[in-house]
Amino acid sequence: MNRRVIGIVGGTGNLGRGLALRWIKASLEVVIGSRYIEKAEKVAKEIGEKTGRAVQGLTNRDATRISDVIVLTIPFDGVRNIIEDVSRHLDGKIVISTIVPPIFSERSAAEIIRELLPRSTYIASAFHNIGYKALLDLEKDVESDVAVCGDDEAKKVAIELAEKIPGVRAFDCGPLEHSRIIENFTHLLIYMNRKHRKKEVSYRFTGI
Ligand SMILES: NC(=O)c1ccc[n+]([C@@H]2O[C@H](COP(=O)([O-])OP(=O)(O)OC[C@H]3O[C@@H](n4cnc5c(N)ncnc54)[C@H](OP(=O)(O)O)[C@@H]3O)[C@@H](O)[C@H]2O)c1
Repeated sequence: MNRRVIGIVGGTGNLGRGLALRWIKASLEVVIGSRYIEKAEKVAKEIGEKTGRAVQGLTNRDATRISDVIVLTIPFDGVRNIIEDVSRHLDGKIVISTIVPPIFSERSAAEIIRELLPRSTYIASAFHNIGYKALLDLEKDVESDVAVCGDDEAKKVAIELAEKIPGVRAFDCGPLEHSRIIENFTHLLIYMNRKHRKKEVSYRFTGI
């Protein structure tokens, strides 16, 4: 895992920055992607200052081109355009979707994304239930389990990445279709955060 380059598409946003910080802290090689090069460079510089390691900021396309694992941390609405933009650099690579559709949905974002990707791509769906605020607080472990579904090759990498985050346990939760359950469950967590005025409501699996 340490030799792989992880490109975060939409790495300038809340979740992308949080994951980048945690992975860079764990000595992984991470590239920040954005639609705008200046924005990518600015956020990469900020992350570099926080972690004490040089971080590269690139366009989403270039970040995808030089990466082995591509983590999608963009809003659902942007998926079609962004995949079209980076698609030529995805052949044979691993894609991890963190994306949750804005409303309860019968099809998961991950399944929709799979249809947009080149057939040679491996996809996993993960990290939906980790709030970005928990990730950004480097003083604290993240009190969360992560459910991972999708293709075996991609699940293996997503589980390794999740377990680089202190406090996180990650589990193989089956085929990509199970992402419907996990993505929709995130709406429950969002509701609970609002209802109970919290920021980090998540879940743990027990008995395993
Ligand atoms: N926030 C969380 O705690 C959390 C937790 C779990 C899962 N998620 C999922 O992670 C994804 C990102 O969430 P977030 O809160 O990090 O979002 P965000 O901060 O609003 O956006 C992330 C980045 O996506 C890019 N972006 C924004 N609108 C776009 C569009 N229409 N097309 C393409 N790119 C666009 C922006 O980057 P540039 O302007 O630099 O291109 C932005 O910095 C969502 O799908 C969400 O469901 C979030």
